[in-house]
Amino acid sequence: MQITNMPEFHKHIKRVIISEEELRDAVQKTGEIISMEYKDKPLLLVSILKGAYVFLADLSRAITIPHEIGFMAAKSYFESTESSGTVDITLDLKQDISKYHVVIVEDIIDTGRTLSKVKEYLESKGPLSLKIITMLDKPERRLVKLQSDYSLFTIPDYFVIGYGLDYGEYYRNLPCIAEFEEGE
Ligand code: IMP
Ligand code: MG
Repeated sequence: MQITNMPEFHKHIKRVIISEEELRDAVQKTGEIISMEYKDKPLLLVSILKGAYVFLADLSRAITIPHEIGFMAAKSYFESTESSGTVDITLDLKQDISKYHVVIVEDIIDTGRTLSKVKEYLESKGPLSLKIITMLDKPERRLVKLQSDYSLFTIPDYFVIGYGLDYGEYYRNLPCIAEFEEGE
């Protein structure tokens, strides 16, 4: 597949795992499911920065019912391909979530540490309901017991970039999901 908007990135792309078109179709389908499930309910999509920002933007536009969005940030990854194991909530929601059905919109569940902490924290605030949607799931890497309610794609233990996911803060603007090629 040709990634036309950034030819200089090609050397760090081992191969495309999920194409732009596959992402578009899966996001559209997820939007339709959410629109049916939360019809006439106060819905808040909570995105965990930064990786989920592209997914959230596209998913929000694929949802045809009224909803709000909110952002949280939780830090557990630095400039490496291994989780640090510590999770800090560095940005919190403005909304009182006891008035909302909350859907966490996540980019990827890897070890599951970040999301399990965020989930625990949000549950303690008493939302009307709480579900997790993740774009990607890497079940082989799980270190804590955590399952999403809906995942768009399950992938093997690859470090991936694109569609919001980074390596050292780069490659978030790749339009597809690709396996990262180590090296300079
Ligand atoms: P976890 O706590 O190990 O489940 O993962 C925390 C965060 O690490 C995810 O939300 C991503 O932002 C990041 N992450 C995990 N795997 C990858 C990957 O393959 N590529 C890019 N970021 C990743
Ligand atoms: Mg994330």
